[in-house]
Amino acid sequence: MTRILVFGNAKGGTGKSTLALHTAIGLLQQGHRVAVLDLDPAQGTLTRYLENRASQNASLATPESLSLSPNANMAELAQAIADLAPGHDVLILDTPGSDTPLARAGHARADVLVTPLNDSFLDLDVLARVDPASQKITRISAYSEMVWRARQDRFKKDKGQIDWIVARNRLAQLDNRNARAMEQVLGELSKRPGIGFRIAPGLSERVIFRELFLRGLTLLDMTEGKVPFTMSHVTARQELRGLLDTLRI
Ligand SMILES: Nc1ncnc2c1ncn2[C@@H]1O[C@H](COP(=O)(O)OP(=O)(O)OP(=O)(O)O)[C@@H](O)[C@H]1O
Ligand SMILES: [Mg+2]
Repeated sequence: MTRILVFGNAKGGTGKSTLALHTAIGLLQQGHRVAVLDLDPAQGTLTRYLENRASQNASLATPESLSLSPNANMAELAQAIADLAPGHDVLILDTPGSDTPLARAGHARADVLVTPLNDSFLDLDVLARVDPASQKITRISAYSEMVWRARQDRFKKDKGQIDWIVARNRLAQLDNRNARAMEQVLGELSKRPGIGFRIAPGLSERVIFRELFLRGLTLLDMTEGKVPFTMSHVTARQELRGLLDTLRI
């Protein structure tokens, strides 16, 4: 059985595509057979990342991939999944940072859903409303509701469950009050009835993540000696392994 791993968040720019590719390469390196499907054809970040990898670092292991046309319908999505799944242990779907029909349908196919989240109350707002004075959760918001519906759809389809993981991304490297408040609220939200997610160890904000795209590389491809390799890169790789372990693939 191919496990479907979806990267999603109705908020844009939280690191879905970056972490989708890092996860794909990490799982490939662990010996899993991995394929990826880009469900954000308008932006096509993951597809572009893989094109850069093919042209700049063709000798490196790369997942098989497909992208859908911007006006693809549900039948084309189902066909793309049916085409990619055979022969692969894991199929990774990268979704856009907005609630599109393709994104919804992709979510409802997930075995594991990873939601990267920037460490900011502004980003948390798509998951839950927080009372400014008490910092208590007052209600869940649009993206959590979308995941709730995806879980219902998934269960109706094949009685499957979606294991939802929230991965904090771009964490400040110094301890700060905002990070502690986010941790507190996320912890509460994760246990709220009807929500239920696991929290992955976070990833720090690091410039290296922005430098890799043009070469189609991930932090996991870098070997000491080839590129200047710093302590920061070593720590970043450990953080990524923490995320991979949390997936329980
Ligand atoms: N840990 C990190 N440290 C620093 N920069 C990061 C980190 N993770 C992601 N980025 C950067 O954040 C930006 C957004 O990342 P990315 O495109 O992967 O997000 P996305 O959620 O896929 O966005 P969209 O919703 O537009 O598809 C990019 O510039 C990326 O290089
Ligand atoms: Mg993206």
